[in-house]
Amino acid sequence: MTDLRSYIREIPDYPKPGILFRDITPLLADAEALNHAIEAMAAPFLDAGVEIVAAAEARGFIFGTPLAMKLGAGFVPIRKPGKLPFDLHSFAYELEYGTDELQIHVDGIRPGQKVLIVDDLLATGGTIEACLRLLEKCDAKIVGCSFLIHLEDLGGEARMEPYDIHAVLKYG
Ligand code: PRP
Ligand code: ADE
Repeated sequence: MTDLRSYIREIPDYPKPGILFRDITPLLADAEALNHAIEAMAAPFLDAGVEIVAAAEARGFIFGTPLAMKLGAGFVPIRKPGKLPFDLHSFAYELEYGTDELQIHVDGIRPGQKVLIVDDLLATGGTIEACLRLLEKCDAKIVGCSFLIHLEDLGGEARMEPYDIHAVLKYG
């Protein structure tokens, strides 16, 4: 069994003093660890009838597209301003180290479609809350959220109620 935790590199004080950055690039560079991570993120949702995987750029895309393929679902990108060309829903939010805004195409999801949200990491929950609000604006049926990493001390879980969270690696 691959020890995925050993592939997450910790960088203190990046990108700002006081932040312990969990760097996933060693995991991405290892074929076995990457495959194991995708399998573990998909496992609880194999029979959930997921029709669309939605994920926010940039790191969400890395995991979102292979999960969509594994689940037999489509992929819908959630992007930062200035990147999507058609009519948009938008939501502004705060990060552990800054503020940002995310957008989705108004026709990205059909009302009632079953959507799984994917990201590499849950920290304060700002990003995922923005994704949830955007998907609610699309009248999506949100089946849950799948993360590789959950930083449990940062309170992100509270911002995700009433939705289910699945995380492969938890750091307290
Ligand atoms: C990172 C990470 C998550 C988010 C988690 O993305 O990929 O999406 O932060 O933090 P939160 O729970 O406090 O919102 P970032 O905005 O740094 O962008 P990137 O994916 O482009 O690196
Ligand atoms: N995104 C938000 N907080 C993070 C952290 N501590 N490490 C890596 N990515 C992050």
